[in-house]
Amino acid sequence: MNDPKAFIAQALERLRAEVPGRTIVAASGGIDSTAAALLAQRALGERSRAVFVDTGLLRAGEAERVDALFRATGLAYRPVEASERFLAALRGVRDPERKRKRIGAEFVRLFQEQATEFGTDRLLQGTIAPDWIESGGALRDTIKTHHNVGGIPKSSKLVLVEPLRDLYKDEVRAVARELGIPEADRQPFPGPGLAVRVHGAVDRDRLRRARVANAVVEEEVDRAVAAKEMTAPWQYFAVLLDARTVGVTGDNRVHGEAVSVRIVDSVDAMTATAASVPPAVLGRIARRITRELPREVVRVLYDVTDKPPATIEWE
Ligand code: XMP
Repeated sequence: MNDPKAFIAQALERLRAEVPGRTIVAASGGIDSTAAALLAQRALGERSRAVFVDTGLLRAGEAERVDALFRATGLAYRPVEASERFLAALRGVRDPERKRKRIGAEFVRLFQEQATEFGTDRLLQGTIAPDWIESGGALRDTIKTHHNVGGIPKSSKLVLVEPLRDLYKDEVRAVARELGIPEADRQPFPGPGLAVRVHGAVDRDRLRRARVANAVVEEEVDRAVAAKEMTAPWQYFAVLLDARTVGVTGDNRVHGEAVSVRIVDSVDAMTATAASVPPAVLGRIARRITRELPREVVRVLYDVTDKPPATIEWE
């Protein structure tokens, strides 16, 4: 793609051909699906309905942020509160692939219900090229099952519409800017949400810890970037590890959990390098996470691995 304007004009035409009736849109508030939802709204008007699901796996303040974003871009949407069913689907599941599959299956069930209610079999989503390439689409091993392409069973009646499937991340950002999405340079966030940043079992308590740690990393990095202590990284977050480790508070030894901080530079997510972050910034992150989660998180690590051999997310 060379010209975002030309891409958009073509995408609108294609959408009108591909969706003769109505469609629902899986809108997560990320750049990809917001761009896809806006294209659908432009092409189809009220025949398109964007659905935003609160899975209970969102970051701190995410539902509010998404609401503000959709309002700012003029995207009409329907919010659906579904945290209980996603937590139930994840109960007792530790394996990363099974987590993604369970989340994907729950999304499919939910969107199936939403589609039926809206009188359509079309589900439009913001899948981009790395999603399906890394899900094993192009004769590659399945590296990972992305929830947005891994979970649709053959028996499902949903017909997928994917207007961005040939674009890479930097191209989607250009399209998003052209569509007037204000946060087009915002960092990406995985569809399965904090579930893939909670290593091991997922429950409300562990999600809360991951949520606090992710908020601290985002705030401290944003602050350091604003203060020109470092350049803006491509993606930055925290992972709650599946490890019990010893800490000390006052005179007491305590057993808590550990958090790994991941800050990477990348262009298209296919490769990435671990960012070199000033030690003072990492120190502030470690102190705040352990202070805001006393006795719960007692150790903070920094992940220095590039992609490859590691992936960006832990799971
Ligand atoms: P990995 O971990 O494969 O991640 O190096 C590459 C980029 O993709 C994001 N990511 C996802 N995005 N659904 C998504 O929409 C997913 O299931 C998913 N998993 C990872 C990740 O945050 C990184 O930017």
